[in-house]
Amino acid sequence: MADPPTTPWWRSGVIYQVYPRSFADADGNGIGDLEGVRQHLDHLAWLGVDAVWLSPFYPSPMADFGYDVADFCDVDPLFGDLDGFDRLLADAHALDLRIVVDLVPNHTSDQHPWYQAARSSRTDPKRDWYVWRDGGGPDAPPNNWLGAFIEGGRAWTWDETTDQWYLHQFLPQQPDLNWDNPEVVDAMHGVMRFWLDRGVDGFRIDVVHCIGRDPAYPDDEPPWSEIPHCASNEHPSSHGHIQAMRRLTDGYAGAPVLIGETALPGTQWVAPYYGDDDELHLAFNFAATHATWDDAVWRKRIARIEELLDPLGAWPSWVLSNHDISRHRTRHGGSEARARAAAVVLLTQRGTPFLYAGEELGLEDAIVPPDRVVDPGGRDGCRAPLPWTSAPDRGWGEDPWLPFPPDAAARSVEAQRADPASILHLYRRLLRARRASAALAEGAQEMLPAPDGVLAWRRVAPDGDQRTLLVNMTTDEMTVEVAGTVEVASDGVGEGEPFRGRLAADAAVILR
Ligand code: NOJ
Repeated sequence: MADPPTTPWWRSGVIYQVYPRSFADADGNGIGDLEGVRQHLDHLAWLGVDAVWLSPFYPSPMADFGYDVADFCDVDPLFGDLDGFDRLLADAHALDLRIVVDLVPNHTSDQHPWYQAARSSRTDPKRDWYVWRDGGGPDAPPNNWLGAFIEGGRAWTWDETTDQWYLHQFLPQQPDLNWDNPEVVDAMHGVMRFWLDRGVDGFRIDVVHCIGRDPAYPDDEPPWSEIPHCASNEHPSSHGHIQAMRRLTDGYAGAPVLIGETALPGTQWVAPYYGDDDELHLAFNFAATHATWDDAVWRKRIARIEELLDPLGAWPSWVLSNHDISRHRTRHGGSEARARAAAVVLLTQRGTPFLYAGEELGLEDAIVPPDRVVDPGGRDGCRAPLPWTSAPDRGWGEDPWLPFPPDAAARSVEAQRADPASILHLYRRLLRARRASAALAEGAQEMLPAPDGVLAWRRVAPDGDQRTLLVNMTTDEMTVEVAGTVEVASDGVGEGEPFRGRLAADAAVILR
């Protein structure tokens, strides 16, 4: 009998983020839903990803579009119900696609029964599940922390019923839980068991670095006092909580994964969240989302990740786009050629790549007119609905909750599947190449010398499998003297032929 695989699936796998409101709409009300995801699993299987991470689909008043959770163990009727979730999970598993769900441990909705109880009186048994302070009375908050999404807004709101401030590192409708209270820890572990018992393959944990806080609640000093506190909060007590989550998760078969959103300003802050292989399996590193299209910048970021994570035995994560930031095609100037080359970079780095739904279509951010803006955090553009067909409704029935991205008909899944030269087919070829090559999936990484403007590296697996990667980050054609056969080219040119030493502007190749 063959030995069981020794490497967990999430190391070689590629994880695809679905933002349920925007992915696919089965009931035709203009808001995506779980049944829409289920009906389009064939797209993800065809594309060749390994797992789907679902952003929150739990009951929510939607002040933060689902990241304000009113019940951690149910499905919002907008998105379906628990039976529908089970059907989605079963169908995904039948296609060999894993499902990772979002866990939001830092805060609840202000409509969550826990918070409703906590705010009802100072003596309520759930009072201490949240963070309450007197400060200096209604006009003087306990400290200078700022909350996210409300420009200059503080992270404390005065509760008039009980005459105290409560903490919210995000919107006032998202009160922070108090993880120093063991009952909160138990409750959140119960939530994890609820979903693991149902068969999910892991969690993406929202702002996990925020859950531990300095018990003295000191003022933030400059420059931190100018940005939301969630960007600087990383108290050591978070680590113990993450270790407990890891022990719980490791008790389940099938290698469920813990992916933490460690939204911190650099790799040196992210690295400790892997612990001694006893905290997160994967800590989100947003280094690539801040990198300009410049080979020197990328070389530095890659080196830093290797230097800091490798000694820990920690496996990197790579992400270019998600539901919180402008899509990378838009960030890098709107050029499709560049978005294609960026896809090569993302899918060939050493680490686990995360794709954000729609990047395989080369989508840009939607232009959202002022009367259609809905997100207080200004993130509507990257959350535009996915165009499935070239028909006027793009496969959505009703006018969706946000406008479509530019060129939606030409960028639809239907149009691009019919065109082998499309970016959609490029993503598929990249995912296939990755799956077929031990070097690309898990090999070591070595940066190579290259002319200015070109990023070059090699991936090598223990069995000798090798690939060389070249990315021209300039707007001129470049000459690079490397031998090999072009396995995948971002512009599709010369695949299967010997590399001729010329790289078009903003083009990338995988050489074997
Ligand atoms: C990070 C999530 O990605 C973002 O969408 C959300 O608004 C905040 N955490 C608060 O939950």
